[in-house]
Amino acid sequence: MAKVKSAYVCNDCGADHPRWQGQCNACHAWNTLTELRLGSSKGSRSPDRYSGYAGSADAKVQTLNEIDLSELPRFASGYTELDRVLGGGIVPGSAILIGGSPGAGKSTLLLQVMCQLSQQMNALYVTGEESLQQVAMRANRLNLPTDKLKMLSETSVEQICLIAEKEQPAIMVIDSIQVMHMADVQSAPGSVAQVRESAAYLTRFAKQNNVAIFMVGHVTKDGSLAGPKVLEHCIDCSVLLDGNTDSRYRTMRSHKNRFGAVNELGVFAMTGHGLKEVANPSAIFLSRGEEQSPGSVVMVIWEGTRPLLVELQALVDHSQLGNPRRIAVGLEQNRLAMLLAVLHRHGGLMMSDQDVYANVVGGVKVTETSADLALLLAMVSSFRDHTLARELVVFGEVGLSGEIRPVNNGLERLNEAAKHGFTRAIVPKGNAPRQPIEGIEVIAVSKLTDALEAI
Ligand code: TYD
Ligand code: MG
Repeated sequence: MAKVKSAYVCNDCGADHPRWQGQCNACHAWNTLTELRLGSSKGSRSPDRYSGYAGSADAKVQTLNEIDLSELPRFASGYTELDRVLGGGIVPGSAILIGGSPGAGKSTLLLQVMCQLSQQMNALYVTGEESLQQVAMRANRLNLPTDKLKMLSETSVEQICLIAEKEQPAIMVIDSIQVMHMADVQSAPGSVAQVRESAAYLTRFAKQNNVAIFMVGHVTKDGSLAGPKVLEHCIDCSVLLDGNTDSRYRTMRSHKNRFGAVNELGVFAMTGHGLKEVANPSAIFLSRGEEQSPGSVVMVIWEGTRPLLVELQALVDHSQLGNPRRIAVGLEQNRLAMLLAVLHRHGGLMMSDQDVYANVVGGVKVTETSADLALLLAMVSSFRDHTLARELVVFGEVGLSGEIRPVNNGLERLNEAAKHGFTRAIVPKGNAPRQPIEGIEVIAVSKLTDALEAI
């Protein structure tokens, strides 16, 4: 009898272990190992050209400049927001993972993309989740061109690759990777083993046949791709489509990209007619009521190559607890603690008996340090119960000695704020424009005390 090979793989980091153990050797997480049956070493069922490693017997060594670059022109997906996130279009032969919670719009987006692309190239849409009728109904309702897109309802990866080899599509969608399975892997679809092996198999298929493959992946509640972090190792590009189902807007960000930058943000709106691009998203998260209240301020953050105006709110309230709460939503918790210390030491404001809550409105996540000054001023505004002007925008990094440091793209941020009707800006001295900007008065500050005086 052929011996069944198995490995134990960590769900969190993807490290391999020869036997089961309670803790992962690599990331030290507990209870994350699952068995991965690799099938028998001999007599495996399918001819499996894609089950080995990417190399083959006729591989040859070349120098870098001999490699033919003409094969690598990207093609546009028809959606500039998607192209932007992918780093300028789809690279032939690449494997792209689109993650997102159920209802985010992954299937809708890919259906729209594939229907458009099928007009110019051979495109194959494989669905394992929805029936062909469901997909067809949706395409009809969205008024998409349906005459050229090839559809396949199948969940066996080997079968899909055999069919795709005959059809020779230039682009292919697998919806979703969690329902795909391989005969050689002896565990249920959706398990780490199946997902990992299926994705690796499809990726090799993509490379060897020069087909761009989009794989849909579901995301668990805590935002990680269901089961396998392991997936991220083998694919070229991992994109997350994010968004509350009760909000219209969906944001798209890449977490790994072999062919471009990862800091770009794409914005879509879910409408009655499918997903529409939002070409100028700078102010979409800015929907403020009539009245301005203490603790609220608008800041300009930088997303990839574009500015974004978002509102930041802080609430400072007398604490009943010995250990007051510090809660930051959409911001870094550590940054909040640090800014409170700076405020105490260099601004003379003590909040050690106060609860502090900070929130970025609209569910935006801010990782930039340019939010420091805005957060600081919002906290002071709430603490003193002093409303900041409605037409004020703020950005700047705060250093540990209370200095206000410049941030990148200062001028573009100010121009964007002016365009949306803001008339005052508090910015770091290093970001002060040489020529005045029409319609906006710029207050340049270099120390925390200057900024506190300016409000
Ligand atoms: P879907 O693409 O099926 O999500 P996913 O594949 O990521 O799970 O999107 C489903 C959601 O989108 C569903 O909640 C309804 C909404 N929707 C619209 O609002 N308008 C539309 O035109 C379509 C097709 C879907
Ligand atoms: Mg779907």
